[in-house]
Amino acid sequence: MDKTKRRAVVAGNWKMNKTAAEAAALIGEIAAAVGTPGCDVVVCPPFVALSAVLDAAAGTPIAVGAQNVHYEESGAFTGEVAPGMLTALGVQYAIVGHSERRQYFAETDETVNLRTRAALAAGLCAIVCVGENLAQREQGVTVDLVRMQTKIALQGVQEAELARLILAYEPVWAIGTGRTATAAQAGQVCGAIRAQLAELYGSAAADGVPVLYGGSMNAANAAELLAEADVDGGLIGGASLKAADFAAIVQAAGG
Ligand code: 13P
Repeated sequence: MDKTKRRAVVAGNWKMNKTAAEAAALIGEIAAAVGTPGCDVVVCPPFVALSAVLDAAAGTPIAVGAQNVHYEESGAFTGEVAPGMLTALGVQYAIVGHSERRQYFAETDETVNLRTRAALAAGLCAIVCVGENLAQREQGVTVDLVRMQTKIALQGVQEAELARLILAYEPVWAIGTGRTATAAQAGQVCGAIRAQLAELYGSAAADGVPVLYGGSMNAANAAELLAEADVDGGLIGGASLKAADFAAIVQAAGG
């Protein structure tokens, strides 16, 4: 696979951290630390901080994403946020199907598919998350499971929409645990995701879709993970809340 066919992306998933004011301050620190990055840089703060972060990121290379998005444009969906509400603010990305949404908020492969389609139809870039838990890895079903999650997430997604699609491989056992997948494990599963994309859309189209790794990626291990042919960037949790660490990962991805 030829990495030059696609852009590197480093996205920070701030999860449920930072007030609007704290988030804006962190953007200032991150903008100063990343300078002119050699890859796409995205931050995904909580919904209530999106406006403040968009203001703070204006004029910087930092793009802004949401951590979730609903699949309807309006209606009786208490607590949810529609794709058009995000694009109207200036939000460009949305994370879809994060394992914490699957684990704690009843997200399924089917709702991940609905959200992915709605996000792409609204013009957002969808960062679609897939990954196995520890039991599934030990059962030897990682590749089958991740390929199935990818295939279901993309039901009804048109090839023309792939320009705004990003996949993220996030093994659940590596998230927030300090236990990172080895570079070989990350490379193998990101390669399997790309093989699934190729089966659905052909290898030329699959070669253009960034596939990220996420799960305890940090300033110290980023370069080794990113050296894998099929790892095109990172979806960063804890380390994205520290400007210097996040900038070091951006540097590793874009250097
Ligand atoms: P950590 O980097 O904290 O392990 O989180 C990864 C993640 O879930 C990003 O979406």
